[in-house]
Amino acid sequence: MRLELDEELNACNYLHLQYDGWSNLRNEGIINSLISKPQPAYIKSLNTETNAHTSEYLSQGIEKVMIVYGVNKFLVLIGDNARNIQKAFGLIKVKYPHVVPLGFCAHCLNLLFRDCLKNASVQVPIVKLNDGREMPALALGTWLGLNSKGRVEPTSNEVEQAVRWALDAGYTHIDTAWIYKIEDQVGRALKGVPREKIFVTSKLWNAFHARDAVVPALRESLRSLQLDYVDLYLIHWPIGQFANSSYDITDYLETWKGMIEAKKLGLTKSIGLSNFNQKMIERILENGLEKPAALQVELNLNLQQPDLVAYCKSQNIAVMAYTPFGSLFYSKAAPDAPPPRIDDPMLVKIAEKYNKTVPQVALRYLVELGTVPLPKSLTKNRIEQNIDIFDFQLTDEEKSLLKSFDKGYRIYPQYKWQDHPYYPFEKKEIK
Ligand SMILES: NC(=O)c1ccc[n+]([C@@H]2O[C@H](COP(=O)([O-])OP(=O)(O)OC[C@H]3O[C@@H](n4cnc5c(N)ncnc54)[C@H](OP(=O)(O)O)[C@@H]3O)[C@@H](O)[C@H]2O)c1
Repeated sequence: MRLELDEELNACNYLHLQYDGWSNLRNEGIINSLISKPQPAYIKSLNTETNAHTSEYLSQGIEKVMIVYGVNKFLVLIGDNARNIQKAFGLIKVKYPHVVPLGFCAHCLNLLFRDCLKNASVQVPIVKLNDGREMPALALGTWLGLNSKGRVEPTSNEVEQAVRWALDAGYTHIDTAWIYKIEDQVGRALKGVPREKIFVTSKLWNAFHARDAVVPALRESLRSLQLDYVDLYLIHWPIGQFANSSYDITDYLETWKGMIEAKKLGLTKSIGLSNFNQKMIERILENGLEKPAALQVELNLNLQQPDLVAYCKSQNIAVMAYTPFGSLFYSKAAPDAPPPRIDDPMLVKIAEKYNKTVPQVALRYLVELGTVPLPKSLTKNRIEQNIDIFDFQLTDEEKSLLKSFDKGYRIYPQYKWQDHPYYPFEKKEIK
């Protein structure tokens, strides 16, 4: 069938352009040989990924084909998702009424349109902070996580590469921390990016809770990041520890005063907290100290923390959602983790409705709760997928279903610290 069609098209003197993936670079050779034919174009494509601007970029691509190759006739073959190419031709016809689309096809004109597609990165909305600054509403997480031996150690440039992919995909916010041991990688990836175009969050580790240890700790992070300032600096945990892991019971109010000093020195634009509970935040405010701009806590389908989120909202403190996928993936879920998993039929149904994936639905839900998710991935297509969540909206019914998965289940309760005076979570009974 395909052969016959190709012969027919050849006979019609059409230029054959066949693409089967937005990012399938292996097609380059084929494409180059095809575009060397000086005839009109037939376009066939199979991929289904889209975002809100797909048709606009496609129309730019089509226009480029027209100008560069003098094409004004397109035979387009229908694929999985014809809507965007139809829309794109609608835009083209406004400017070039003589252009003839003969039939319709799916989108995905990858390589030829690469320049246009470079602009196809997603625009992330902005969250206003209570100190007047603005924070992008989604960030790339950069913690390598845990394995059976403890914290996963960085091996080479895995995070550097991930941050580069993220920047290409439109991320403007990177979440990192001294303890992740990858701030140097983030710094290398950010080299050359105009400073005002990127929002960097980092965190003060437990070993630097003494008031006068805060500024030197932040300076060390800045050296690794090769930056003059971070946009947001958080106290990672209310728990202080000495280098040998014994408890440092420095009052976190003192640590917070160190944070305020760091901000005054211009080393960070905003300051905030991580893993603090409501009472601890209230105590900071009751003592007349500067209000934190943000609170970063674990938030996902199984741990939605509605009271804490509502409190922060009432105080205009931005909430950042770490471990946003919770136990969605079988590979990460502990045996006692409540549902759902990625193949939950109700979630799959919602995802299919919006032509999205289940992880995208989970992230979108966090955005709709008014929080800033921090999905971590080292995988290019997941990084791209995780930011592509700003072109759909869940219904109230769908949100009620997603709310029903809240079981107050914490992936990182850190019970090992539960006898510290500033342990922030519900304690486990020791029998
Ligand atoms: N303040 C704190 O105390 C604290 C604590 C924990 C985390 N955080 C921050 O929050 C970030 C995110 O949390 P997290 O790293 O614990 O967990 P997460 O982002 O919920 O999950 C990361 C895992 O999900 C996988 N993944 C990502 N996107 C996917 C997709 N679309 N489909 C399938 N799998 C996908 C990743 O795999 P691949 O990487 O292999 O793609 C990785 O295994 C951290 O990186 C860190 O920046 C902060």
